[in-house]
Amino acid sequence: MFIVLEGIDGCGKSTQAKLLADWLQAHGRDVLLTAEPTTGRIGRFLREILSGKAEVDPKTLALLFTADRAEHLAREIEPALARGMTVVSERYILSTICYQAAQDVSEKWLCAINEFARKPDYTFLLDVTPGESMKRKAGTEIFEEKEFLKKVRANYLRMKKDAIVIDGRRRPEETFHDIIGRLGL
Ligand code: TYD
Repeated sequence: MFIVLEGIDGCGKSTQAKLLADWLQAHGRDVLLTAEPTTGRIGRFLREILSGKAEVDPKTLALLFTADRAEHLAREIEPALARGMTVVSERYILSTICYQAAQDVSEKWLCAINEFARKPDYTFLLDVTPGESMKRKAGTEIFEEKEFLKKVRANYLRMKKDAIVIDGRRRPEETFHDIIGRLGL
């Protein structure tokens, strides 16, 4: 099973991913807890861009995130699924579609370049307002800015057919309870 957690910066996805991975393990599943951008070479270059050290055109950035995803799938996700593991990923296809569309890249093209990527079994969108998320996050990366995150959030909320929307404003345990309920395990 392949589960993805999505949402704007500071939405609480790292906390929920950890809770979910621990819960699945406690229920006897082998779990791969992973994230995009990855820790691989392309992922490390992406971190340089996100920290403001390097600058690229938004289309280049979309291609890099998508290339990082191709490596992530080929080297980690697909092998883990083939071994029968449950994969929990922080961020995946919807991050590229919602963040890079907020940088005015064509949504149609973003979907097209991600066509190759396996669809997750579940995508949870942890929904919080940028005001709330900015309280949780220090704001040292290029996208951690309220006006930009407003656009990203609006893009996420338009993707309802591809994701289960979870109210992320509650206490972490309540949010988590909701996620488990939706998984129906
Ligand atoms: P994030 O998971 O928020 O990393 P951390 O909380 O550890 O800093 O992801 C880093 C940033 O990358 C975040 O602002 C979202 C952005 N991002 C994209 O713009 N497109 C993508 O395809 C992905 C995977 C992330």
